[in-house]
Amino acid sequence: MRAQELIQRKRDGGALHASDIRALVAGYTSGSVPDYQMAAFCMAVFFRGMNGEETVALTETMLLSGDVLDLSDIPGPKVDKHSTGGVGDKVSLTLAPIAAACGVKVPMISGRGLGHTGGTLDKLESIPGFRIGLSVEEFRKVLSATGCALIGQTDRLAPADRKLYALRDVTATVESIPLIAASIMSKKLAEGIDGLVLDVKVGSGAFMKTRAAAEALAGTLCGIGRGFGKRVSALLTAMDEPLGRAVGNALEVKEALELLRGGGPEDLREVNDVLTAEMLVLAGVASTRQDGLRRVRDAVASGRAMEKFVEIAVAQGADVRALEDPARLPSAPSVAEVAAPRGGYVEAIDAQAIGLAAMALGAGRARVEDRVDPAVGILVQKKVGDAVDRGEALCLLHHREGGEPVGRVAQRVLAAYRIGEERVTPGPLVIGEIS
Ligand code: URA
Repeated sequence: MRAQELIQRKRDGGALHASDIRALVAGYTSGSVPDYQMAAFCMAVFFRGMNGEETVALTETMLLSGDVLDLSDIPGPKVDKHSTGGVGDKVSLTLAPIAAACGVKVPMISGRGLGHTGGTLDKLESIPGFRIGLSVEEFRKVLSATGCALIGQTDRLAPADRKLYALRDVTATVESIPLIAASIMSKKLAEGIDGLVLDVKVGSGAFMKTRAAAEALAGTLCGIGRGFGKRVSALLTAMDEPLGRAVGNALEVKEALELLRGGGPEDLREVNDVLTAEMLVLAGVASTRQDGLRRVRDAVASGRAMEKFVEIAVAQGADVRALEDPARLPSAPSVAEVAAPRGGYVEAIDAQAIGLAAMALGAGRARVEDRVDPAVGILVQKKVGDAVDRGEALCLLHHREGGEPVGRVAQRVLAAYRIGEERVTPGPLVIGEIS
């Protein structure tokens, strides 16, 4: 195989054979294909796309570049959820214990936040003692004992994706549907799952800004999953404003605990409930979406979901006192209000801008090696459709010295809001599905 011939073929709109893709990715992972050739290949794919067979070959090559977990000795249906990433999206923290409390095994391998979107691992690590770096043996033990385990990607799961994703990140080749789909599915298929629910976010705070792009990604993800014999469904959910009110790691854990105790914001509950119900359907635990929703609500109302979260967290080393009394979670020394410059109704909130403002406070990272501050973040006080008086708080900034000056972050938050004369009704949260 000569890498430049494959790059040229893709550049000119041709299709590659599965064996070409295997050779190219294997060469890149072992180091015989250099970064500059792989970057050129990714750019050719960015412009020319890939057909179904090419995308499956790329996914399979990345999947088989590392270990594939075999969880067949653990009884019960294993189903996970993947979100393409949003702002304030803490659904994994609530959905995983609720699904486990309903009888699904949830082997969840999550990522860290990068750019304006948050990551489940950073949120979990804001709970004192919580270990996300379990060995595969520990992961299996916690999953067997509690029905759920929540860890980070290890060096041995889809290592080709790890190297390729880092390259795409710095060569402007992330936003390509075949590359995103192969990247996501190679990691999820390595988990040894039977089924997967995909939450494909659409809107200002999502990778996919339009419904058409989100549908195309969802279709590709489902096609790959089914090609590998998995039960897969995808929901398209709105990411036009932050989900819930909390954006920032410990703040989001507090909000997730509220939801598990039966409270929390309505929009978060709706997205959580529908995704969890779909997991129950894929697992065969619920017969229909309605049956799934009933079981999800019952698990929360009975307290079983909260008990399950505590059980999982304690099995992973968490200090139970921080879960029983969220005041023990990290908290920022100062809180500043962002006041509305005029009265009216909130017409829109740019979710990406709010995510970037939280990142500027220290809640997220610009580069993989950056550290996050678990305590800082933003509490959204006014959401789309809310009435607001002049001088009322739109958001609360939980901050400390050392990040971007809080006045500048407040300006960013103000710029993210559009306040108008007329009350607008927020659009639906679940805007489409592929099942
Ligand atoms: N998430 C991933 O895991 N990979 C991508 O390429 C994009 C989002």
